[in-house]
Amino acid sequence: MAALKMTISCFVFLQVLSCLLSSFALSKALGLKVGFYDMSCPKAELIVKKSVFEAMKKDLTLGAPLLRMFFHDCFVRGCEGSVLLDLKNKKDEKNAIPNLFLRGFEIIDDAKAALEKECPGIVSCSDVLALVARDAMVVLNGPSWEVETGRRDGLVSNISEALSNLPSPFNNISSLITQFHSKGLNKKDLVVLSGGHTIGNGHCPQITNRLYNFTGKGDSDPNLDTGYATSLRKICKPTDTTTALEMDPGSFKTFDESYFKLVSKRRGLFQSDAALLDNQETKSYLLNQMKSDRSTFFKDFGVSMVKMGRIGVLTGKAGQIRKNCRMVNK
Ligand code: HEM
Repeated sequence: MAALKMTISCFVFLQVLSCLLSSFALSKALGLKVGFYDMSCPKAELIVKKSVFEAMKKDLTLGAPLLRMFFHDCFVRGCEGSVLLDLKNKKDEKNAIPNLFLRGFEIIDDAKAALEKECPGIVSCSDVLALVARDAMVVLNGPSWEVETGRRDGLVSNISEALSNLPSPFNNISSLITQFHSKGLNKKDLVVLSGGHTIGNGHCPQITNRLYNFTGKGDSDPNLDTGYATSLRKICKPTDTTTALEMDPGSFKTFDESYFKLVSKRRGLFQSDAALLDNQETKSYLLNQMKSDRSTFFKDFGVSMVKMGRIGVLTGKAGQIRKNCRMVNK
């Protein structure tokens, strides 16, 4: 019996070790590492943190769009800062429908300006965004994680790529799984990262079909709790295109684990939230997250954020270090 226990614990230890090693090997192969700027710009992370803390002292609601901005950057051409670019013809990612509610670009600009003063041409905009997303979660009492850096910035931003790569709130579970899988993220990452919906807002047009006309017969979504649907109908009239809705009512400025409880009670705001209950594996991850304590979610969230931060990165000599995050260098 003792020998069996020993074998099992050795096996678990080796699995954890191999997982850690392969994660380390992967980031190394990609050219990313924690503390990439330790020698070239030792104050880089501190400077970013200061910009985030100062801005969020005035407006806590900026945290949510900043987290979402990083996700939307990574899912389109990889985490290379394309979401930050402004094109003269306005056919940039920012102007794609899923990005129209993104806010907080000026925080990235402020942090970058301070970095350019301290160590010009060293710190990429894509790394600034990765650091900002983490620091903003810390301000909202959420998780912290070690951000890998060393990304370089891309040169292209394209409105139609944003439309085709970003998941829609109307997506069903199989398209969500496929979309995340195509970015190297698995079902657990999908569930854990959806937990980001513990903060911030959605808007009425993303749910009016669930409230008024789900199958074209004037019905509501059977997967939406009826009491919740009634209270949402009071806020969102059928033609409302502007009203904001807290995704985690009452605690939308605090990063906590309540998202999983809400979804399990059929009180997730979007069809894409409710859809997590439609697949055995995602459902069981969701219920596990719900039963576990906060520290498990926080740890898992950090792991999945680091994984997401590796999508399609440009490193080494690829891309460039933009001087201004809104435009490629001349
Ligand atoms: C699984 C697929 C996902 C879909 C379909 C989705 C969709 C959406 C939509 C439609 C909104 C409302 C935006 C608005 O009206 O202002 C939203 C908000 C938000 N999403 Fe997601 N999302 C997904 C995954 C994620 C992930 C992976 C993260 C981050 C890890 C994230 C973080 C957020 C945050 C923080 C907000 C609030 C933004 C704000 O208050 O401005 N979402 N999401």
